[in-house]
Amino acid sequence: MARCKVPRRLAATSLIRNWTGRDLSKTSDQLSDVNPEATVRASVVSILRNQEENGAIVASPDFAEYRYCWLRDGSFIAYALDQVGQHDASARYHSWVNQAIEGISELIDRAIEWHQQERPLHPDHMPPARFALDGSNVVDDDWPNFQIDGYGTWLWSLGQHLLSTGQSLLPDEFRGSVERVGRYLDAFALTPCFDVWEESGTALHTSTLACVYGGLTAAARLLDDDDLAERASTVRSQVRDSALRLGRYVKSSESDDVDASILWLATPFRVVEPSDRYFAETVRTIEQLLRLDGGLRRYPTDTYFGSGAWPVLTASLGWHYLSVGDLDAAREARDWVAAHIDAEGRLGEQFGGERRDPQHYREWLERWGPPAKDLIWSHAMYVVLCTGLAKFAEPHTGRSRSEDAGDASQP
Ligand code: BGC
Repeated sequence: MARCKVPRRLAATSLIRNWTGRDLSKTSDQLSDVNPEATVRASVVSILRNQEENGAIVASPDFAEYRYCWLRDGSFIAYALDQVGQHDASARYHSWVNQAIEGISELIDRAIEWHQQERPLHPDHMPPARFALDGSNVVDDDWPNFQIDGYGTWLWSLGQHLLSTGQSLLPDEFRGSVERVGRYLDAFALTPCFDVWEESGTALHTSTLACVYGGLTAAARLLDDDDLAERASTVRSQVRDSALRLGRYVKSSESDDVDASILWLATPFRVVEPSDRYFAETVRTIEQLLRLDGGLRRYPTDTYFGSGAWPVLTASLGWHYLSVGDLDAAREARDWVAAHIDAEGRLGEQFGGERRDPQHYREWLERWGPPAKDLIWSHAMYVVLCTGLAKFAEPHTGRSRSEDAGDASQP
């Protein structure tokens, strides 16, 4: 597929300081106070190294198709940065999103207006899932643009950033974007769109609903808006009424499969409690059907690069384990992810697909080359899991472990 605005690759250490505007070796030292694990420090440095001066964070520096900033990846990454005290970097990401949203304000307003008028909307005319690193909209008819989850995840992540930096009021410069994205989610919350894997554009996806719920809840709080809060509870009811089938939560309105991204229903978005018995059954099914060599695949019929195990999802499972206090299982998930960090400190998108399903692996290899060797979202979820675990290792707060478990996962 043709892609526009592929940014230059800046890997040389001597350039890092100029690129990020910070001295990363100093950043590493500072981080040792937060978490002593060298791998976590290295992952944070990888994230910072892949952040542009303007705040954008590239999905992967080595995979041409991913040289953009996705709202989904970036917003989880910003959350990870806040967990290790890298609030400035997180703030720069949120400012970048703010400007990107301002840049597409007419697109968003028109989508809402046409939707209200029940006029047909082509997915290509919807707000994008990803932006060029300069914040401009990427016009590419081949890409399934219409994915609302990232907008929800952004609002959630911004809310978390403000909470973790002690800002109880929404800064004025964000108000316009938060209102606009809130209205956008309000309008399209229950409209079929492409899912978090950028597939199946005709269904309502359970993990998308989770992200939208997280976003609406955050926007309702930040704007003190009861209508948005009510819309969030409609989304929650939709999950409970329609996505709960076969005694567990299912992938979408069109599929009774499980999908590992459903884990986000509980952690971090809290549409359901981690202890919810149907959610517990969902986790059991995910464990049974999606394990691969100790990691976690996306969904049973996945074929992308042979459907290997993803650090993002394995860490998400670990994050869930933390929320229910299963530290051994959380550590196992952490260790699996850590074992996949290569000698150069890179952490790829997925592992094992070439053995699991060689034919599909080859098909994707021929199309796009090898899967991303360094996926910044993978680093971020590893950081989130490790910092969550570290809270248990340092019970200096005088609080109980279960309270800390809540902290580690509770938005
Ligand atoms: C995944 C998306 C992700 C994107 C960039 C795609 O393959 O399906 O969830 O946002 O890569 O990492």
